[in-house]
Amino acid sequence: MCGIVGYVGPRQASDVLLGGLARLEYRGYDSAGVAIMAEDGVRVVRRLGKLVNLSGVIESEPVPGGVGIGHTRWATHGRPSEENAHPHADCTGRIAVVHNGIIENYVELREELAATGHVLRSETDTEVVAHLVESYYTGDLAAAVTRTVARLDGSYALGVVHADHPDTVVAARKDSPLIIGLGEGENIVASDIPAVLEYTRDVLVLHDDQVATVSAGEVVVRDGSGEVVADPELMRVDWDLDAAEKGGYEDFMLKEIFEQPTAIRETLRGRMGEDGEIQLSELDMTPEQVTAIDRVFIIACGTSYHAGMVAKTLIEQWARIPVEVEVSSEFRYRDPIVDDETLVVAITQSGETADTLAGVREARERGAKVIAITNVVGSRVTRESDGVIYTHAGPEIGVAATKTFTAQIAALYVLALKLAQAKGTLSDERVESLWLELSNIPDVVEAILADLDGLKECAAEYTAACSSLFLGRGIGVPIAMEGALKLKEISYIHAEAYAAGEMKHGPIALITEEVPVVVVATQGHTYEKVVSNIQEVRARGAHIIAVATHGDDEITRHAEHVLRVPATSEVLSAIPATVPMQLLSYYIAKARGCNVDQPRNLAKSVTVE
Ligand code: G6P
Repeated sequence: MCGIVGYVGPRQASDVLLGGLARLEYRGYDSAGVAIMAEDGVRVVRRLGKLVNLSGVIESEPVPGGVGIGHTRWATHGRPSEENAHPHADCTGRIAVVHNGIIENYVELREELAATGHVLRSETDTEVVAHLVESYYTGDLAAAVTRTVARLDGSYALGVVHADHPDTVVAARKDSPLIIGLGEGENIVASDIPAVLEYTRDVLVLHDDQVATVSAGEVVVRDGSGEVVADPELMRVDWDLDAAEKGGYEDFMLKEIFEQPTAIRETLRGRMGEDGEIQLSELDMTPEQVTAIDRVFIIACGTSYHAGMVAKTLIEQWARIPVEVEVSSEFRYRDPIVDDETLVVAITQSGETADTLAGVREARERGAKVIAITNVVGSRVTRESDGVIYTHAGPEIGVAATKTFTAQIAALYVLALKLAQAKGTLSDERVESLWLELSNIPDVVEAILADLDGLKECAAEYTAACSSLFLGRGIGVPIAMEGALKLKEISYIHAEAYAAGEMKHGPIALITEEVPVVVVATQGHTYEKVVSNIQEVRARGAHIIAVATHGDDEITRHAEHVLRVPATSEVLSAIPATVPMQLLSYYIAKARGCNVDQPRNLAKSVTVE
């Protein structure tokens, strides 16, 4: 997730671009750059690190010009560096491109371009766009961009400039956001509304496969076949700047909860090959090496640890490899039994958690191969592990993890399927049907988010609770644990999670009418057992909030509140069952007046032991 800005108009483009990028820095911040149409051609300035580094250079050596594109980067391909920072240029240096998204077929395109004499200078997927535009350009920039995007698989929002067209920015998008702020004699292209609000509240929303030619006086939108779109989508924005930075949501946490369909979709993108093989080159292991794995050890902290617990079920069930999951702070001091036949998976959204990093070192010293799952390209765990699987959730600002958790689970589904394929424990048909269902999970989450009836009312009833219990069985146990963690983190209500079958050995003593019990009761092979556990606590006066499947009428007899999710197969229910619990915690915390984005005493990245 990166931020893009483009400007055409009477102001100094560098001022508008830097101001706009500052408003988009929440989208990524490992490097930044601009390309300005100067008198002598396209001038590109890029710097590693935060935007201030770039602003400082431009302040001391201004680049005059009224047309340009800018970018703040959240690395996906290639580490954060000046060479990998955008804009990227073609061979002639007359074309410059900024991009947000992931180009899945960039390896193939790089090879093709290199074979025809193009010299690519970065490690990014984006650079191929500049060279493709160069190769298709015959005088019409929008036409060259249209031909280019037809070659791309994946997601993109693009801003393109060409020295031959000093008054124009061409913009295009598919599956990545892009809008155009319509000003008086000026127009501003941007990934998101905050970047344009200083200049206008009139916005054109570019749709998938559309290409816009933006000049100071007009915006011409064409569809993929080059036909002019007569009625592009226009809107007037009435949010203030603060609300706009949060995409119109009250808090980053709520925005990030709603970003989950995209985060999961992006994490799954490109993982299924045309040959039916799961694509996971990051594992960098031969089928023989995978077959030799006799144990998987997952280490993680906090929410990531719960993702690890979900993965235990997936990997054991699908790949039939025994899995141990341990919090990193225990693993590192426990003299763990790990050797060169153990695959260690380190899960950490930030990639910087001290205990997990120490666990990685410990495991590698003992000869294990370590694969990291992280959301931050270039973070320390990526440098210390043998391989990295990225979740593509985009930056998460809310301290309590939401979209990074469900994206981690998505990545772990992919890993589990890959291991199963390598071990030959699932038939091709089974992998295919699981993949189809998995690909539908973003839509399932969208459906949950579109129907919040009852959630706020349910939350309102429990804002005064002092203590709560979360129960589940099987894959529902880590989901209950994550539900409890979210509630305690952001609302400060004590919340304890238990395997439902174990509850009678202790926590049942705590049950009173004042203790709400949240139960993961989605359909599965232990559903009836879960219902029995509900009855046990209900008999002691507990109020039940059940997370249950649409169409399950029986549950209404056993619960005061039912939070519904669409039916999925049991093993794929982890993500859907998580979402209503995130929202429940959110609304309870809000009703208690808590700061959900920055809960007391917590930090987003814990770099101390
Ligand atoms: C902190 C955060 C949690 C996170 C945990 C592990 O406690 O507040 O949201 O789950 O660290 O972080 P990691 O970056 O390793 O996933």
